Amino acid sequence: MTSISRREFLSLATALGASAAWACVRPRPSRAPWTERRDLFPEGVASGDPRADGVVLWTRRPGGDRPISLTLEVAEDPAFARVVATARAAATPEADWTVRVLVGGLAPAREYFYRFADANGDGSRVGRTITAPADEDPRAVRFAFVSCQDPTTGALNAYRRMIHEDERAAPADRLAFVLHLGDFVYEVVNYPEDRPQGYYDRALRDLVRYPRGQKIRDFHVPVHVDDYRVLYRAYLHDPDLQDARARWPFVCMWDNHEFSWNGWQSLQNFGAGNVPAQTRKVAANQAWWEYQPARVATPAKSLDTFRAPRVTDAPIERFDAHGLGREPNNLAAIGSLTGYRALRFGRHLDLLLTDQHSYRSEEPTGRPEARAFQSPDFPELVPQEALEILDAGRAWDGGRSPASIRHGDADVPNFRRAEPPQTILGATQKAWFLDRLRRSRATWKVWGNSQGVLDWRADPQNLPAGLTRPWPGAGYAGFGGGDPSTAYVERAEIYDVVARERITGFACVAGDRHSFWAGLMAKALPPAAFEPVGVALITGSISAAGLVEALEHRFPERHPLRALYLADRPGASRPAPTVNMLLRHGVRSCLEYAASGDLARARALSNSDNAPHLAFVDMGGHGYAAVRVSGEDIESEFVCIPRPVTRSETSDGGPLRYRVRHRAALWRPGERPTLEQRVVEGDPGLGA
Ligand SMILES: [Fe+2]
Repeated sequence: MTSISRREFLSLATALGASAAWACVRPRPSRAPWTERRDLFPEGVASGDPRADGVVLWTRRPGGDRPISLTLEVAEDPAFARVVATARAAATPEADWTVRVLVGGLAPAREYFYRFADANGDGSRVGRTITAPADEDPRAVRFAFVSCQDPTTGALNAYRRMIHEDERAAPADRLAFVLHLGDFVYEVVNYPEDRPQGYYDRALRDLVRYPRGQKIRDFHVPVHVDDYRVLYRAYLHDPDLQDARARWPFVCMWDNHEFSWNGWQSLQNFGAGNVPAQTRKVAANQAWWEYQPARVATPAKSLDTFRAPRVTDAPIERFDAHGLGREPNNLAAIGSLTGYRALRFGRHLDLLLTDQHSYRSEEPTGRPEARAFQSPDFPELVPQEALEILDAGRAWDGGRSPASIRHGDADVPNFRRAEPPQTILGATQKAWFLDRLRRSRATWKVWGNSQGVLDWRADPQNLPAGLTRPWPGAGYAGFGGGDPSTAYVERAEIYDVVARERITGFACVAGDRHSFWAGLMAKALPPAAFEPVGVALITGSISAAGLVEALEHRFPERHPLRALYLADRPGASRPAPTVNMLLRHGVRSCLEYAASGDLARARALSNSDNAPHLAFVDMGGHGYAAVRVSGEDIESEFVCIPRPVTRSETSDGGPLRYRVRHRAALWRPGERPTLEQRVVEGDPGLGA
């Protein structure tokens, strides 16, 4: 949608629950008094979901018990000599003093500046935003994608690095927006006194204290909207995050932690089974809506407040053929905010964002019955055939789902035999997604998926006899379930549409895994036919700890399979993360590398069938990723920083570990995508 009428714009603003401003034709100097008072706007400013003609602007101005009237100015210049739009908006306690203004009538692909001020002229900091290019704009678009930031356990240096690089980039290379793929906040909070030993390499920072909250074991979780609000406010006081929000428009989609660690629909699970939590799901949605400026819909369509539906935490026991809990409070809770949406950026980019938690069915390998497939003898590994059978449920093998699954000497009951296949998107969202994918006219159809789609697997069937117990599976092993990489039925449905309809330029960007991955999307791997249909990129976490850090702290020193995960090299301060090699090359390469330290000999033993879909894996990387799409190609850049244990005091955010690029030329219908890799700076070690 390039341009809309003023009337259409106003109805759009109403549907989104935002105050509205329409840009005037003739710019004029600012007439509103403004003196910067950051202390009165402690969470800064933000903009979100840019379109070619407008953007959503945000701030928070806390007060006493009366609403505070604010004036917004939008200008073409940072001195506000050319103001093009003004609006009035009220900060109210009902929305926790947050304010959203939808601005329309702006020019495409253009930088704007904005600021808020109260009646006294006490003003917010100045924000910068950028509108999207018009639909036919042929220029390339570059954006960053990020996920998983936790300032209580690590520093957000990645944002400082991103700002530093963007300020120095040529105009055509600057970021058009930042795509945040979730875990913007972590609702699971360790208070320092509950964990004096800290968390892996990190000392805990005392940033979040829930006014209500619930303590579970050694962590605290929110129980009320005031708890979730405290979480967002604490995070937005981080200077690196706040500066990033003031510099670029953000496009945000939640992952799990915006609601609950193991949450699905409006259920929570802290290890003792599913617990209905409709009231908390509504609270999480309300806080997200209040703190993330976005073009998302609420049923109430209020201009200024969320209007939370009244729900109770009723048991959710009846699920339909798509795994959706039909309990009315569940439907009201997940219906209180619809996050999936599409945004267009010029000729080459359609961004399709999906929600991986509100509609998903229960994750099969998260159930207690699935523990039979896990064993400390084979850390992280689950037989692939078990993952596939459990995913498919009654649809396995054309309806011939087995009563049990062979595992070593045991026959494990197939508890999924009578249940529908796993879905992550749910029926309604999936229909929307496939429809948008089919109808897209942009060169690149980029799926913004909070979770990674690339398989992570290993080949324990190739372990030499006698090293440990025999592998109880039939062949390959997956690294457990929980994301689209083990939703085999659903991903095949999506990828089959892409293949059948000869859709090109399909790519997926994701977060969640706290690791950098580059590869190709395919519904199956060898020994099945490997037929890639798109490019997949996964970004490392901004700060949250990843698998390598966890392995360094938790993996037993004398485990017979330690070499598959970590290699202890003489004189090295840390073990080498052979798990990166395991995921790409398999067990024989890891054993060789741990024994000899000889990379060439290790790679010569690579099992090329293990991961033909992967070009890069670094399970220990932090930082951010950027993507550039054009009429010819897609190019990603992984910007990896050292483990962000402390905040960098330098304006560049600290040193780089490495910068690696992956490029895929646009393929023609019927052709396969391929990836080229280039290490531009630093050394990705066993990742490349
Ligand atoms: Fe995360």
